[in-house]
Amino acid sequence: MFNLIPAHQIALRVAEIGRSISRDFEGRPLTVVGVLNGSVILVADLIRSIQIPHRVGFVQASSYSGATTDPGTLSLDMTLMPEVEGRDVLIVDDIFDTGRTLHRLVDEIKKRKPSSLRTAVLLWKQGRCEVDVTPDYFGFEIPNSFVVGYGLDYGDDYRHLSDIWVLEQTDLGPDNGEREGR
Ligand code: IMP
Ligand code: MG
Repeated sequence: MFNLIPAHQIALRVAEIGRSISRDFEGRPLTVVGVLNGSVILVADLIRSIQIPHRVGFVQASSYSGATTDPGTLSLDMTLMPEVEGRDVLIVDDIFDTGRTLHRLVDEIKKRKPSSLRTAVLLWKQGRCEVDVTPDYFGFEIPNSFVVGYGLDYGDDYRHLSDIWVLEQTDLGPDNGEREGR
């Protein structure tokens, strides 16, 4: 695997996004809704850069791509979702790939009558979009490679890495644990 975005660059960019959000939502009743599990590190850093009062909640999205289920079948768990009627909602996810996750979430959360709904992601994978939504805030545009770290996983591993790494074909073998942390 190789290093794509080092932690200090992520920190600078997340702080910038936090400042934009603070300006844009000044005086508004903001609720940040993180998409578990991938957004957990981003949410923790981003909310500490948002210098206006706001609430935080979570939903969970998982896509199953095993041989026994349809590729990309998306399951949403909204049981942790806070009440947002009349509030401004900012959905925060780790990465915008095809956009299907955010598209579905926007549809679901709209039903709860927020007064506005915007989206933020750390990474935006270019050329993959399959829907007519784009993120309102994003950290970095990245090429179409598989990335891990800073919350992003491969088979639920690698989320704890501080940098963003590109996973290569050779990392997908049985010895991939050894490469962790490189
Ligand atoms: P989308 O619905 O296609 O936009 O995909 C979004 C979800 O797919 C993200 O929340 C991630 O969980 C996962 N995902 C997409 N690309 C990557 C990647 O390169 N690394 C890790 N997870 C990814
Ligand atoms: Mg995810």
